[in-house]
Amino acid sequence: MNHPFIQPPQVEWASGALTKGPLLRKSTRIRDLIGIFADDPARQRLAGEHVVYDVEILATSPAEGELYTGVTHLYPGRVGDEYFMTRGHFHARREQGEVYFGLRGNGLLLLQNEQGQARLESVCAGSIHIIPGFTAHRLINTGSEVLSALAVWPGVAGHDYAALAKGFTLRVFEENQQIQVREAQNE
Ligand code: PA5
Ligand code: NI
Repeated sequence: MNHPFIQPPQVEWASGALTKGPLLRKSTRIRDLIGIFADDPARQRLAGEHVVYDVEILATSPAEGELYTGVTHLYPGRVGDEYFMTRGHFHARREQGEVYFGLRGNGLLLLQNEQGQARLESVCAGSIHIIPGFTAHRLINTGSEVLSALAVWPGVAGHDYAALAKGFTLRVFEENQQIQVREAQNE
């Protein structure tokens, strides 16, 4: 019997490019990130259309129990001295976790609980990041190459950006060509 083999979607590990699946794509630009960086006037001096990060997601079912798979490509750059980063979010369904896998580049994953306690994990090709429930998360590109990470999360998790209106309690800057972590000022 000639049984057909289904060709699943694929990720090219070296670049993080997703292929062979129906994809959803979203670009986040400098003009979309109002109030995210410490120095907003510095953000306003950059070209608004400049892409800070691209996300590609396999268009799969969002139903309870199903999982989404996506790749974030966070480009190198800074707003003032602060490294490019994703907006960051809690999940709308707070108890839902997520797993990130570093694919290329170098950076940090900023994790923060609901009490505002933050920690940073190094992201590099092959790193695995278990993001528990009730934990906000943001990628930061501290390198000079694209930082790409694969993520898998529950379809029901959702994104809650508003809960981080006061932002994360840590910020990451470059100072004298070194990575500097600072407590965020009362924002
Ligand atoms: O599900 C995730 O956590 C990621 O796919 C992020 O959504 C992605 O990195 C973009 O970040 P944000 O949603 O904070 O803009
Ligand atoms: Ni998430």
